Amino acid sequence: MRSLSALFLLFALVMTPATLVTAKNLVCFYDSASYLRLGFAKLLPADLELGLNFCTHLIYGYAGLKPQTLEVYSLNVDLDMFHYHEITLLKAKYPKLKVFLSVGGDRDVDEANPLKYVGLLESGREKQQAFIDSSISLLKRNGFDGLDLALQLPRNKPRKVHGTVGSYWKKFKKLFTGDFVVDPMADEHKAQYTEFSTNLRTALERSNLSLSMTVLPNVNSTWFFDIPKIKNNFEIINLMAFDFLTPERNPEEADYTAPIYPLTEQDRLPHYNIEFQVNYWLQNQCPADKINLGIATYGRAWKMTSDSGFSGAPVVPETYGPAPAGSQSLIPGLLSWPEICAKMPNNVNADYRGENAPLRKVTDLEQRYGNYALRPADDNGEHGMWVSYDDPDFAAIKASYVRTKGLGGVALYDLSYDDFRGLCTGLKFPILRAIKHFL
Ligand SMILES: *[C@@H]1O[C@H](CO)[C@@H](O)[C@H](O)[C@H]1NC(C)=O
Ligand SMILES: *[C@@H]1O[C@H](CO)[C@@H](O)[C@H](O)[C@H]1NC(C)=O
Repeated sequence: MRSLSALFLLFALVMTPATLVTAKNLVCFYDSASYLRLGFAKLLPADLELGLNFCTHLIYGYAGLKPQTLEVYSLNVDLDMFHYHEITLLKAKYPKLKVFLSVGGDRDVDEANPLKYVGLLESGREKQQAFIDSSISLLKRNGFDGLDLALQLPRNKPRKVHGTVGSYWKKFKKLFTGDFVVDPMADEHKAQYTEFSTNLRTALERSNLSLSMTVLPNVNSTWFFDIPKIKNNFEIINLMAFDFLTPERNPEEADYTAPIYPLTEQDRLPHYNIEFQVNYWLQNQCPADKINLGIATYGRAWKMTSDSGFSGAPVVPETYGPAPAGSQSLIPGLLSWPEICAKMPNNVNADYRGENAPLRKVTDLEQRYGNYALRPADDNGEHGMWVSYDDPDFAAIKASYVRTKGLGGVALYDLSYDDFRGLCTGLKFPILRAIKHFL
């Protein structure tokens, strides 16, 4: 039996057109909140289905954590009570698709309990059983194949990179005041995460369920993850290597939000890039084929002021926080790919002025850091905007990087911000398709 399947595998390899190794995973995140959006931003299962032709995994976001009992629960019962099944039933049509439920992410907003995920780690084996039992029953009842752990652990503290007078003094002071320490108990939490994920994995396995993990943007793996010890607990590991800077975290300056390679000029942090993050996991003995590189289908948009200049070359100084929300996604400082595309020069907007004037696109010819687009502030200091984003072309460059590194694949975040209606060029899911093509 075994030799037969080995033979088959060999056959499959020989039959692969290019001899280059191809990455196997295209993990698609599906934020179910997109079902409730209005207008063009509303993603219905019928729209989703087209995308599923390209995905190996669909990760349904998000379930939450009850801070007192530590149970996993639906954040929107009215929706999930039918939608969980609606989504997992799609497996009948796409038999190779695995559907996971993700807990945490940035959807489980709980202002009264901002540290509840740290509390989960600290609570000990007995109390964690409630997490384990409740997730298994939620998964089983609704036909999911597995759980994705996207725990909200303390984030890197944002730092202004631009040299200002006194910055050396500030650095010096930080070194001694420990201002850079994200979590004074990180060592304990790291050990607890190992134990917790090991128990969780054992229990899920017994129920024939899979476990994956997602490292959220700016959760620092050095602090929280003992990679050699946890790597076998997870079938796949999604590194959300984007949002290194955001207009909320870094209101006063704008920079590439998800560069592939480090930029050493201008005092930038050495770990705010994909290459560093991926190498960190590889150097800590994580098998390359478990790692999926996170790619965002949205861009981050800052407001440029009169003092930000006209060139737009990052680091862009003197920005003023998030740019106004997009007309569909409605989140300040975030623009979905179709929203960004609509702001590029086209036949319609060529003569527009003010807040509707087109942005100027700057393509990264080196293919290392990402593209950006801008509209310098006008004479009154208004309507300035600077956006860092991955368009289908740059997403393809990242997919090629994934293949060159021999990684498992890509984790796309998320389907609802890709152009699933084909508003930009007529092609639906252009980012997803570009990635699939280049993996
Ligand atoms: C285990 O799960 C896989 C995929 O989710 C499924 O195909 C298989 O039938 C399951 N096996 C059992 C014994 O339930
Ligand atoms: C975590 O942060 C520290 C600085 O506080 C940095 O030196 C380290 O490289 C970071 N690790 C990762 C994986 O980003």
